[in-house]
Amino acid sequence: MKILAVETSCDETAAAVVEDGRRILSNVVSSQAEIHARYGGVVPEVASRHHIENIAPVVSRAMADSGLGYADMDAIAVTQGPGLVGCLLVGLQCAKGIAFVHGKPLVPVHHIAGHIEAPFLAHPDREIPLPALALVVSGGHTNLFEVPRRGEYMLLGRTRDDAAGEAYDKVAKLLGLGYPGGPVVDRLAKGANDRVVDFTIAKVKDGRPDFSFSGLKTAVLYHVRREGIAPVTDPANVPGEIRDLLASFQRAVVTALLRRMREVAVARRPASLLLTGGVAANSRLRADAAVVAAELGLPLFVPPIALSTDNAAMIAAAAHVAFARGARAGFDLNADPHLAL
Ligand code: KG4
Ligand code: ZN
Repeated sequence: MKILAVETSCDETAAAVVEDGRRILSNVVSSQAEIHARYGGVVPEVASRHHIENIAPVVSRAMADSGLGYADMDAIAVTQGPGLVGCLLVGLQCAKGIAFVHGKPLVPVHHIAGHIEAPFLAHPDREIPLPALALVVSGGHTNLFEVPRRGEYMLLGRTRDDAAGEAYDKVAKLLGLGYPGGPVVDRLAKGANDRVVDFTIAKVKDGRPDFSFSGLKTAVLYHVRREGIAPVTDPANVPGEIRDLLASFQRAVVTALLRRMREVAVARRPASLLLTGGVAANSRLRADAAVVAAELGLPLFVPPIALSTDNAAMIAAAAHVAFARGARAGFDLNADPHLAL
């Protein structure tokens, strides 16, 4: 079973061909990050225009890399939501066109289902014990899901305000470090003192295992103002004071994420842990999550960075599972920026 998937929910134009939900035949990602860097974040209108320019070459390249033709595909999958509506529509129209012309079924995919399926795609030779507890951390989402069976996702907790990746991006922007913030903060925090500022995040305390990161962003802003810290002008020469600040910020984010994951794991007793989404690329989060998993005696599955950040291979993998469960869409399929999972 071969699926061509298209993903355009944010600022990556991506297409991939995956066989049986586990063998990646091609995986093409064209990132617009450099274009949006000058604005300090993704500009929706600009992103959708670039998707229109990129989509045909990206899909053609994914097909060429796979060595297969459209006739060999069993289904065409596409991210229906959540995401930026103008961006989603570009992928949707492309996938519909291919499905229509080649007479293939169209499979709608939830972007987060794609992130959750990424660890399964990344470990095709290992049986991931279920139920799994998945921490999905990206620029748009911070969620805890239970995965009782393949293709079933139960939302246990989510952020009340900013996503973890959004916090990274906003703090990086505040300090003149560009977009996306995660990778640069990750790099600058390495070897810095993470105890210089205490940014401890208060827990959301009303019974739900939710997250909150907007207070942290404000705490960083007040600290920067109080200490008169100027934004970075020379990225090659970032002052130690800022690196310590970033390390302290990162410690607060990682601690808050893993504290919740641990609590929920203790309460729900899953058989494995999954860590996925763009922020799962973070070196400290990966390292600390491995410690938590070892303490809990649970296997931890984390996709490699290329499958953690947005890509279409994960969408094809999720489509494989959804297709087997009967997911199909008509040509009236519409983008849903707030699609629930
Ligand atoms: O999953 P993703 O590619 O797109 C969304 O669905 O949002 O995640 C992008 C987010 C951005 O906020 C980016 O700053 C963050 O992932 N990110 C990281 C790292 N690499 C990417 N955050 C922390 N550390 C990283 N190494
Ligand atoms: Zn994503």
